[in-house]
Amino acid sequence: MNKIDVCLTPELLHLCETENKNVVVIDILRASSSITTALAHGIARIKPVAGLEECRALKKQGFIIAGERDGKKADGFDLGNSPFDYMDRSLAGKTIAMTTTNGTMAISKSKDAAKVIIGSFLNKKAVVDELLRGQNDILLLCAGWKGRFSLEDTLFAGAVVKDLGHDFQVDHDAALAARYLYDGTGSNLPAVVENASHAQRLKGLNIQKDMAFCLTFDKYDVVPVLKGEFLIIKI
Ligand code: MLT
Repeated sequence: MNKIDVCLTPELLHLCETENKNVVVIDILRASSSITTALAHGIARIKPVAGLEECRALKKQGFIIAGERDGKKADGFDLGNSPFDYMDRSLAGKTIAMTTTNGTMAISKSKDAAKVIIGSFLNKKAVVDELLRGQNDILLLCAGWKGRFSLEDTLFAGAVVKDLGHDFQVDHDAALAARYLYDGTGSNLPAVVENASHAQRLKGLNIQKDMAFCLTFDKYDVVPVLKGEFLIIKI
């Protein structure tokens, strides 16, 4: 039986093998939610980029650039990182270069995986179905916040461990802890997550509506996957 594990923050990634695994990058508030929303709304490709200056250089090459630092839209960028930024019909078919505080960094650290998938509550069922079709061990990588634990990312990881518990062998205590955390709180996610540090940060930026949206289950039946240097919808 293949195994499923959870990496609670990218700081622990050196202890978790990613090669030959299907890695699900999780950044509920908000990178993986925004990426899922963007591709579901017809944006053709997203190029995850580690740094602000690299993104700014891509703007000169004709890319639309999107991103934030500490939740705030980056200076001179076309878009921030609210999922609502990516619903604009005029963006359909376009390519976007994106950089975020934690999410795009986590993606860049997963590049030697067998497959990199973007997971969010918005596409949880589609991600679980994709993982069930796979033949590899699974690593659920929580993007966290600047190396620290993220409650909302871990809750999502726990929800996926719960969904896959009969088909994959739980590997290590982080996966068990995530599952128990979700079992204990999953029935009232908004009330739990609103106390999380990044939710409080977003509240301070008056973007509560993003939180409610990012905690919506299975709004989109899409699976963003990394193909070369771009995130696209898996066909
Ligand atoms: C992240 O990378 O942690 C998020 O994108 C931050 C945010 O969008 O607020």
